[in-house]
Amino acid sequence: METEVTRLLGIRHPVVLPQMTRISTPPLVAAVSEAGGLGVLATASLGPDTTRDAIREVRKRTRAPFGVGIPLLTPGGRENAEVALAEKVGVIVYSLGKGDWLVPAAHAYGGLVVATATTERHARAAERQGCDAVQIVGHEGAGHGSGIASMVLVPTIRDAVQIPIIAAGGFADGRGLVAALALGAGAVAMGTRFAAAAESPLHARTLANVLDRKADDTLYGDRFDGMNGRVLRTEHTEQLAGERPKLWNALGASRTLAAEIGVPWPRLVRQVLARGPGSTLRMARMAGAQVAMQRAIEDGDLERGLQPIGQAQGLVKDAPPAAELMRRIVTEAAAAAQAVAAASSA
Ligand SMILES: Cc1cc2nc3c(=O)[nH]c(=O)nc-3n(C[C@H](O)[C@H](O)[C@H](O)COP(=O)(O)O)c2cc1C
Repeated sequence: METEVTRLLGIRHPVVLPQMTRISTPPLVAAVSEAGGLGVLATASLGPDTTRDAIREVRKRTRAPFGVGIPLLTPGGRENAEVALAEKVGVIVYSLGKGDWLVPAAHAYGGLVVATATTERHARAAERQGCDAVQIVGHEGAGHGSGIASMVLVPTIRDAVQIPIIAAGGFADGRGLVAALALGAGAVAMGTRFAAAAESPLHARTLANVLDRKADDTLYGDRFDGMNGRVLRTEHTEQLAGERPKLWNALGASRTLAAEIGVPWPRLVRQVLARGPGSTLRMARMAGAQVAMQRAIEDGDLERGLQPIGQAQGLVKDAPPAAELMRRIVTEAAAAAQAVAAASSA
């Protein structure tokens, strides 16, 4: 399938592995890119040195195009973006922040910038700022999806901007891909689907849970990390959804995170406080959620952990290698497109 997104990114199939903290690691990123999609490395839990190492590891594993995801709001986000620019990574996908300064910097070496948006206003802003494409995340998606479902969000954004669209949120197979193209997207990003690929580092216990659970076994709300988002429904997340956030937990979490990204803790605290009380509160809650995500993803601890997952988990029943998944998606898409063509000509 050739679309405006496959031509723009130089990939064979209109399928993207989006940035997923602790999941979109070099083995999975390289596997998706090798299979003809675009793998996007996650950097939220990395510092500048580990981001550079991860980029180089992807390059050792594949010569195919790949991207780097940059959540600009997280501590160290700007520094990681600077590493990605210095490494001349082909595609920079940013989220949670103002990324206009990335556009001229990436274009200077022929790189591309994709903004992540959940509203029409943000998609229009990305286009005005010169972004090459916009990735939109509908309500169904894992993590910070829109309040609007993909079925309505994709055509709404299609009518609002001219730049190519990568649709995310609820897409997990070839039928979803064809539907997204019909709605006006040029590609899909599949988070929940690839989080269960064989190359994903998702802990076996959490994976077994995801494979077993249904589309309605997720929760959406702002109690998990301070912003509206979707996570796996567990006893623990049901409890979190109903209570006020315990901010003192964030203090310990911020120490763990500072050590992980290689920033001295007092400096991290100073940086966060300098952004004002609103941002400090939001970042404190994000720090707590980051540590809880680590528990679910790396330790398989769903008693205290937090697993971002989308409604598409109801469609995910197995964990094959990324290359096999890609073959399956392409075959299903061809069949779905044929079914649509047959219906149109009947
Ligand atoms: C385990 C997990 C971690 C995620 N972490 C991030 C992240 O760090 N930054 C981000 O922008 N999106 C993150 N996401 C969201 C994905 O990038 C993507 O928008 C979403 O998975 C798309 O919806 P889908 O799950 O229905 O495919 C994460 C998703 C999952 C499943």
